[in-house]
Amino acid sequence: MAKRPKRTSVASLSKFGVPHKSRNKTVLNPVLRGMKGLFSRHPWLCIGGFVSFLAVCSSAAHPFGTPKRFDARRPAVEDLKIPPEVAALLRRSCTDCHSNQTVWPWYSYVAPVSWLVERDVAKGRNRLNFSDWNQYSLKQREKFFSDIASAVKNQEMPLSQYTLVHRRAKLSEEEKDAVYVWARLERRKLRTISAGK
Ligand code: HEC
Repeated sequence: MAKRPKRTSVASLSKFGVPHKSRNKTVLNPVLRGMKGLFSRHPWLCIGGFVSFLAVCSSAAHPFGTPKRFDARRPAVEDLKIPPEVAALLRRSCTDCHSNQTVWPWYSYVAPVSWLVERDVAKGRNRLNFSDWNQYSLKQREKFFSDIASAVKNQEMPLSQYTLVHRRAKLSEEEKDAVYVWARLERRKLRTISAGK
């Protein structure tokens, strides 16, 4: 059998105008020319192909995890036994990413946006999941309360890419204070409990 010369890189290079001796002989050229002809005659085919490609990506590809699969109907913040006004704030600004009760908007099903949303939710739940509150140790809860207080105070949470779309999730200065004061108070309570042991 005769040895075939390597041609894969030639086809991609020739696209960028890199001159090459065997440019016209490349095997891919007729295929590309055929596709170009097909798409210019049937532009809908091109659009349809792209939409199907996105659909496949949206349903089958999850490069950052599949948090939608773990949406057990576990309570969001009920286990924390907190004042209702603070619970309402957490539900409004945090539980989409920090509980198993995520409300998934339509664009969270369309790649590639879905991947960014899934990444934030997977990472957020991984760091702190209010639905798992009962499983956290006292030490962990203490740490969470102090992290929550500083994340809200320093405007690190809720994430800015989230409030950009979820305008309602933005916390006013008073609301930030309410979460901060509550988290600090709970932390102090836990500290006295663990000190008394
Ligand atoms: C859009 C999703 C999203 C929302 C909404 C959100 N978070 Fe987060 N949160 C994350 C992600 C992602 C991380 C992990 C960040 C990292 O590891 O870099 C995180 C981390 C944290 C941490 C750990 C802090 C740290 O220093 O790592 C705390 C505490 C936290 N979030 C609290 C909150 C609170 C409180 C709210 C609501 C006021 C909130 N988050 C809203 C996605 C979110």
